[in-house]
Amino acid sequence: MQKLRAARILGWGKALPDRVLSNQELERIVDTSDEWIRTRTGIRERRIAAPDTAASDLALLAAQEALAKANLTVEKVDLIIVATVTPDMVFPATACLVQSRLGASRAAGFDLEAGCSGFLYALATGREFVASRTYDHVLVIGVEVLSRILNWQDRNTCVLFGDGAGAIVLGPAPLGEGILSTYLGADGAGGGLLSVPAGGSRRPVDQDVLATGAQYIQMNGSEVFKFAVRVMGEASLKALERAGLDLSAVSYLVPHQANQRIIDAAAKRLRLSPDRVIVNLDRYGNMSSASIPVALAEAADEGCFKSGDVLVLVGFGAGLTWGASVVRW
Ligand code: UT7
Repeated sequence: MQKLRAARILGWGKALPDRVLSNQELERIVDTSDEWIRTRTGIRERRIAAPDTAASDLALLAAQEALAKANLTVEKVDLIIVATVTPDMVFPATACLVQSRLGASRAAGFDLEAGCSGFLYALATGREFVASRTYDHVLVIGVEVLSRILNWQDRNTCVLFGDGAGAIVLGPAPLGEGILSTYLGADGAGGGLLSVPAGGSRRPVDQDVLATGAQYIQMNGSEVFKFAVRVMGEASLKALERAGLDLSAVSYLVPHQANQRIIDAAAKRLRLSPDRVIVNLDRYGNMSSASIPVALAEAADEGCFKSGDVLVLVGFGAGLTWGASVVRW
């Protein structure tokens, strides 16, 4: 058997809809205030996809940018993994729609759903394919058009989320470089805290569903908050332990962007000052699977990371799920 190898990030990209929805505009839609949203969450505005834009449209743009940055032609892509809870449709997979439009005819493709932890699950999966030498180049995409599954009459949820896509290209690296560790967790018993109850095989959409809004995101915010604060720290520490590193090695935290207070708690647990934490939720809200790859792409574009920096990517979400990954840049 051939020796294992590592996977590293060769390129990154992002795509965000042009339309900005501010807190002030939301004040005219539901009973909320800019002050409440900013102080409770840290969000100032979010992006909303145009009516004719679906997940694969944003995913395609992010993927093209990531491939260009990696200086890789589409023929080199072996596998496309799309993490999303808002695919274009139930099937075919959004990964296959992207594969066709990208012209990546050699690539296999599938979607993966792990709530807001989706990108971390997809990253861990892609890394295994590269490490095992099954594939050389894996495109990992996190994309959401959450505005389509939000109840715009429910102030508990509609102020929190936004639309966008982020992508990375993974390629081979010597052991000890690139992705140093991954750690994933799940607790299905908490699934009811954050869900879209209807629209699947358990409860297909019918008149009753439409009347109650059960086809939209429903969330017990305060319970998810407590869970998030607990697992963000725990998952980061587990991933660091697996990488054989301690807290002093961490250069930057790239957290899932759900709530500034959750991010602050994670940073405190990892003893990181605010300048070591990548934050974009003030501008984009919670983009679920897209939050981490967009934050990563923006920070990388700004030249934030230097070679050898150690990044901790960490997130949590529906499932319940959580995960973390330690990356040497
Ligand atoms: O990626 C995973 C997705 N989910 C999350 O990450 C969510 C995690 N949870 C959170 O971020 C926070 O729990 C929230 C931001 C959702 C809520 O903050 P909170 O400090 O936990 O507030 P709360 O749920 O305890 O609600 C406090 C009050 C309630 O009013 P009463 O019952 O105390 O009178 C809510 O009805 O705030 C009210 N409220 C609002 N008020 C104005 C809830 N949403 C709004 C709103 N505008 N948009």
